[in-house]
Amino acid sequence: MKRTIVITVSCLALGLLSVAGSALAHGTEKHDKGKLADVQMKKLHTMMPLFSLVSAELEKAIEKRDSAAVELEAGKMLRAIPELKKSKPHKNVNQQKKFVELAESLELALTSTNVMAEKGDFAGARKAFKKVEETCAACHAKFRD
Ligand code: HEC
Repeated sequence: MKRTIVITVSCLALGLLSVAGSALAHGTEKHDKGKLADVQMKKLHTMMPLFSLVSAELEKAIEKRDSAAVELEAGKMLRAIPELKKSKPHKNVNQQKKFVELAESLELALTSTNVMAEKGDFAGARKAFKKVEETCAACHAKFRD
């Protein structure tokens, strides 16, 4: 009888320990995730003002029919696309797939702006740039608060 009590008590203690242990582990995991999300949001805050400046320069380059400048400016944003895909918005955070798709649309539109300008087709470049702006707006409508 005494032995059963000892066993029961130690089982209970072990059980409690493991519950506490997993709660602790869970706590730190949550904390790390929170920190990671902060970093991913900060990325957006540094990247987006750059996109805004570069986008204005890109538009000017198209107006001036300067394909080298188009390549330079489009390239600045294209190089940031992998980071954009890895970043996280504040709003609709559970729709990361859609967020990545919009980043891919931006990549496509920028690439085609560049290709058109390279060919000397600046009407085409202007059209492709419209798509760039539409993609900025589409992502903001869904993910920017
Ligand atoms: C894949 C989504 C996505 C695309 C594409 C996108 N943005 Fe953003 N942008 C955001 C989000 C999300 C915010 C809000 C940032 C936040 O709240 O953390 C933002 C914010 C901004 C801001 C405000 C600065 C700030 O830190 O809040 C500017 C300016 C901006 N974007 C410009 C642009 C331009 C120009 C383009 C297109 C060339 C573009 N963005 C494309 C998601 C995107």
